[in-house]
Amino acid sequence: APSENVNAPGLNFSSITPNKADAVTVPEGYEQAVVIRWGDPVLPGAPQFDFDNQTPEAQAQQFGFNNDFTDLIPVDGKPDTFLMVCNQEYTTGVHMFKGYKEGDPTENQVRVEMAAHGITVVEVKGEPGSGKLTPVLGEYNRRITASTEFELRGPAAGTFFTRTAADPTGTRVLGTIANCSGGITPWGTMISGEENYTNYFSGAETPPLDGLKEGWKRYGVGKDEDAHHWMKYEDRFDLSKEPNEVNRFGYLVEVNPHDPKSTPIKHSALGRMKREGGNIYVTPTGEVVTYCGDDSKFEYIYKFVSSRKIQPGKGAAAMESNMRILDEGTLYVAKFEGQKVENGKVPEGGYKGTGTWIPLLTTKADGSAQSHVDGMAAENVALWTRVAGDKVGATKMDRPEDIEPNPKTGKIYCALTNNSDRGVKEGQPGIDTPNPRVKNKSGQLLEITDEHTGTTFSWDLLLVCGDPAAADTYYGGFDKSKVSRISCPDNVTFDSHGNLWISTDGTNDTFDSNDGLFGVVLEGKDRGLTKQFLTVPFGAETCGPVVRDNRVLVAVQHPGETDDATADKPSSHWPDGGSSQPRPSVVAVWKKSGTIGA
Ligand code: FEO
Ligand code: CA
Ligand code: CA
Ligand code: CA
Repeated sequence: APSENVNAPGLNFSSITPNKADAVTVPEGYEQAVVIRWGDPVLPGAPQFDFDNQTPEAQAQQFGFNNDFTDLIPVDGKPDTFLMVCNQEYTTGVHMFKGYKEGDPTENQVRVEMAAHGITVVEVKGEPGSGKLTPVLGEYNRRITASTEFELRGPAAGTFFTRTAADPTGTRVLGTIANCSGGITPWGTMISGEENYTNYFSGAETPPLDGLKEGWKRYGVGKDEDAHHWMKYEDRFDLSKEPNEVNRFGYLVEVNPHDPKSTPIKHSALGRMKREGGNIYVTPTGEVVTYCGDDSKFEYIYKFVSSRKIQPGKGAAAMESNMRILDEGTLYVAKFEGQKVENGKVPEGGYKGTGTWIPLLTTKADGSAQSHVDGMAAENVALWTRVAGDKVGATKMDRPEDIEPNPKTGKIYCALTNNSDRGVKEGQPGIDTPNPRVKNKSGQLLEITDEHTGTTFSWDLLLVCGDPAAADTYYGGFDKSKVSRISCPDNVTFDSHGNLWISTDGTNDTFDSNDGLFGVVLEGKDRGLTKQFLTVPFGAETCGPVVRDNRVLVAVQHPGETDDATADKPSSHWPDGGSSQPRPSVVAVWKKSGTIGA
């Protein structure tokens, strides 16, 4: 913990001491309660969770596994009541089932896993005098799984590479998987990114068509890094039987939580990558700009400037129009410039530079599309966006995770979580100003001052994370002896004061302690002051997060996911304690009296 406890508006709490507790640890004077756990009923009539007798039918009505992004959408006319949206990123059979055989799952296990993926909408209700939230089995509740029908739109839809035996139209896709991070749109929908979906497709190491060679290599298709073996029971996950199914994942998805019967959308006008969500900024003149990261080592940062404006209201007509905003506009990729850097030597005043947005693809209202990349057709830019980024010389970043505009200032913040291959991997670039460290273990936090609809920007590194005592770290120019240490930033959000909040994934690769949630001052004399607000249990990563004046929410993802831990030998018993199985859960934290950080 920092030697002195420095306070700032919104961050007036005693910083948490790093720890390895099998618990959510919150500052003194704060309380916490689980909102919902993996397996808790979501749909009216859903059965209670039964760890030893799980079924796909039950799981499809219950809260999914490994919650990642979460947020609260207020319900009109009901005080302190929200539609909580949450994505369920991935499953690990070995932690979900006793006696699980790695590489040889049963059909029941695979179908439970498929039902445990996707997106959940669940009504939650507050309690007077506390920040506690309780699920309500309400009419808007919904589970979207790996089997729910989506509409694929944009230049990739209906093309040769998105048509399958089961869907010759190339526009009706079953399910969303590997959803990571996300955002709420100003028109009241949820957007989410399909990230590491290639792990779900196996059965062939070389593509059956020459036209797929470059794409497979660039996206790691067929490499089977973390196979789920779903192909045993559904042919569409077998690359040798259905090589095009995998091309129907990797998009920004959009769900209308106000209509539980609506068909969710995959928007290919924003390209295809291993996408870490997306977040929207609306300019004072009403232009909608969406920022996205592609979270793999040496991947790119993108933005999409829509040509369609927002219609007011949440009625069917307005929603139909607004859910086309992400179908029309221009996709850009970022190229960064800055001074030459020496590994680990922080320049006086920190790292900074300029950059340009390079156009890749424009999609028009009538569905026609134009490529801005020499030698690539529009549909190929939408499908193999990484290849397009390579061709235009975009800057390869240290794993761009969540990227989000600060609603107070319009500045854009992107977590570059880490990159152990930086400066050492053959065929990849060495260090540069925005990615200044060899074998980057601890990551950095990028701040972009963007023209939004324009093509130039300036940038700096707000944080170069890791041990504050080490010469290679930088905390916004703040006195490093007075900050909480932070490593591996992943998700970001903002409080009502304009402070940045960061949740982490991978702290224990840098320090011998658990992940957590941190507040960072952005503006004024205390810029760079970093304070740890909570820690999550052993083996977990901190997701969500939501920071409101009266409560904080974090999604505790994969508690107990440690080397050698299995359901037969769990390493965590959070949240239920005793000898219970660990269960990924969303947790609310609030101050006993008064406002968060006041
Ligand atoms: Fe699923 Fe990029 O974290
Ligand atoms: Ca993430
Ligand atoms: Ca966020
Ligand atoms: Ca991560």
